[in-house]
Amino acid sequence: MNSSIFITLLSLAIVGALAYFAAVGFRGSGKNEELPANLTKYKSDDELETKHLDKSLSWAVLIASLLTIMIPLYYLGEDSRQESFVEEFEDVSVERGHHLYEEFGCGNCHGVDGGGGAASYVEKRSGVKVTWAAPAINNVFYRYDDSEVKYWLIYGRANSPMPAWGLEGGGPMNDGQLEDLIDYLHSFQVEQSFELGTIESSINSSLLRLENSALQVENEIINQKLLIEEIKAGPAKLPVLQEAVDKISALLEKDSGIDSDEDGLYDSVEVEISEYSATMQTL
Ligand code: HEC
Repeated sequence: MNSSIFITLLSLAIVGALAYFAAVGFRGSGKNEELPANLTKYKSDDELETKHLDKSLSWAVLIASLLTIMIPLYYLGEDSRQESFVEEFEDVSVERGHHLYEEFGCGNCHGVDGGGGAASYVEKRSGVKVTWAAPAINNVFYRYDDSEVKYWLIYGRANSPMPAWGLEGGGPMNDGQLEDLIDYLHSFQVEQSFELGTIESSINSSLLRLENSALQVENEIINQKLLIEEIKAGPAKLPVLQEAVDKISALLEKDSGIDSDEDGLYDSVEVEISEYSATMQTL
């Protein structure tokens, strides 16, 4: 702001001075028949060495003092001017990055706010269609630095839904666009305390699973032992089963009686079967 006022004033002064010199230079020229300036009588020595000289010198002192004040003022503002240029440059870059994020649909997989999402994907070798988790990227700079993120952006992740975005990886974006995108990703990273909270709770739940795992393994071993016992007892149960099959087949062959619920089985047969299965279960 300071600098633009200074530059405007300076330009005005230069234009004014040029106009003044041009006016003086052209004075006397033109259509009228007056004598040329070098032939007209100018001021007397008395006038030149007193009033005229004083006036010129006063102007010189005034302009020199103005410059003496303005140049240091300009210098003092230089740091903040440069900082605001950098800020402005970054703001514009973030804006361009936001535009790219929307244009290339990063949000379709990673979520509009970068909080994570999913992508459907056909695994190349097996042809199986899967839903692939797309990680949150509003915390990606707690895992990777800028150059690592840029690498993933340029080349994507092979054999995953994440495509290559950089020209070198066969994607559509040049280096400047990738930088803008990275500046935009920086602009919406979650607070560090929030990220630490998430990490802590996932560590805790993993620890809990580890603690319980010994118990789970024990239970599983007991289950497997029971299963083996049952398998071993199988042959002993075979005659009993055979007997049951014979008995029930005989019952089903009965061809007279009342079928009150009309399910195709006579009531007496239904009673006998349920009594029989009750005795079987006690075995
Ligand atoms: C079609 C879905 C899809 C789109 C579109 C997509 N990504 Fe990805 N991205 C993924 C998946 C899936 C992964 C994780 C791959 C894996 O499992 O290794 C990923 C990984 C990443 C990673 C690495 C994150 C990490 O923690 O490992 C970054 C950074 C990233 N994507 C940024 C972007 C940006 C920026 C865009 C937009 C230009 C984008 N992605 C577009 C699906 C997508």
